[in-house]
Amino acid sequence: MSQPASLSLDQAPPIGVPLRFFLTAPLFSITAALLLLWQGPDLLGSRWNPALLGLTHLLTLGHMGLVMLGGILQMLPVVAAAPVRRPALAAAMVHTLGTGGIVLLCCGLTFTLPLALKIALPMLGTALLLFAALIVVTLRRALPQNMTARAMRLAALMLAATVLLGLTLLSNHAFGWWLQAREMLTNLHLAWGLLGWVGILVVGVAYQVVPMFQLTPSYPAKLTRWLAALLFILLLGLAPASHSPALRMLLGILLAAGFAAFALTTLWLQSKRRRKLPDVTLNFWRGGMISLLLAIALWLAAQIVPAMGITQSYGLLLGMLMIVGFAMSVINGMLYKIVPFLVWFHLQSRRRANGPKVPNVREILPESRTRRQMWLHFAALGTLLAAVFLPATFTYPAALLFGASNLWLWLNLVSASRTYRRVNALLRQASTSAG
Ligand code: HEM
Repeated sequence: MSQPASLSLDQAPPIGVPLRFFLTAPLFSITAALLLLWQGPDLLGSRWNPALLGLTHLLTLGHMGLVMLGGILQMLPVVAAAPVRRPALAAAMVHTLGTGGIVLLCCGLTFTLPLALKIALPMLGTALLLFAALIVVTLRRALPQNMTARAMRLAALMLAATVLLGLTLLSNHAFGWWLQAREMLTNLHLAWGLLGWVGILVVGVAYQVVPMFQLTPSYPAKLTRWLAALLFILLLGLAPASHSPALRMLLGILLAAGFAAFALTTLWLQSKRRRKLPDVTLNFWRGGMISLLLAIALWLAAQIVPAMGITQSYGLLLGMLMIVGFAMSVINGMLYKIVPFLVWFHLQSRRRANGPKVPNVREILPESRTRRQMWLHFAALGTLLAAVFLPATFTYPAALLFGASNLWLWLNLVSASRTYRRVNALLRQASTSAG
């Protein structure tokens, strides 16, 4: 794989910056699987079940959030042509406070521990709001025509808004002053989190990585220029529309059209790629886009048959398709391109003539291992969806498959980082003996 032209070693953050986030993230999804195994079908019984809220955040903040934070810190030098100042310090702060806060949040919600939630509040607030501010400020240096930078900035603003709403909702659990507007605020919080922070980020990152890693033509210029901004404005509009069902429906239909246009364009570009070799990342993205389209179809069906939209299965299906099907698939695929590339890139740039050979990306993470993990991931998704209809039969197999898939993902990432450490030690030895 060729190195992106704009990435240079003096600008790239140390490899430990993204890796600490990537290696921690699957531990949260493995914990989510254990929680599902422990609680069984009862966990899926009600939207407001505290353990289900804990499980949701093990995935949205713990797994997806951490990968997205690490990935952004890695991508900033490429998209903004300038790294974050003191990246190792910024990463250590955000990672330590963020991880601690997520653990406390999820334990506090699952086991109803107000004290844990009171401590989680400032930790998560500081880590995530600081991170969002850092991104918005750093990306001021990006060129105005860089559409990925623009989308990343909008996604960071959505993260800040999601966090502020999340903290307000959390204060309810921590201090017990039950807000009248709980359901309305939760709906806004989850829409901004899943469609704004996650959705807009995936859209913006896709502009850069789909053509580069999957060798497709570029996204149409009109789409890259307008889509992220349009989605952002529509999502903001949901706040004043909270009391008007008709306006909410209109905004929802426009959002559905925007995300459907993105998913269909991505699938179309993938079908036009130059080299039709099998590729795990491409298949993860395909699965992600199909899940997004299914989620959109389900949402539209619930607008046509309102009785369907108020059922517990509808919310669960929508959440699983968006979280496990869309976001986690795309993220898993991205990790399999980014991690071996970073390991290779950092080793190669340190290698001297006649020094030890640096393994290529396929040797760092063999496709046979990533492909099997991908099938396990999609099998877990299918079984989780089946568990919504037949919880007694499918909940335990779903939890086992989901846990196994994420454990395997984690082991694959650990093995790539071990290769880095081993070859780096050899390179260091060779350069001291040459010196
Ligand atoms: C500091 C960060 C966050 C905090 C403190 C937080 C807190 C909360 C709380 C307390 C609830 C439950 C609402 C209630 O019981 O009244 C909730 C719901 C939810 N949150 Fe978060 N959240 C955060 C970040 C996120 C992010 C980044 C996402 C998505 C990417 C997310 C996705 C969700 C979802 C999907 C639900 C709804 C679950 C349901 O309706 O069944 N949260 N959040």
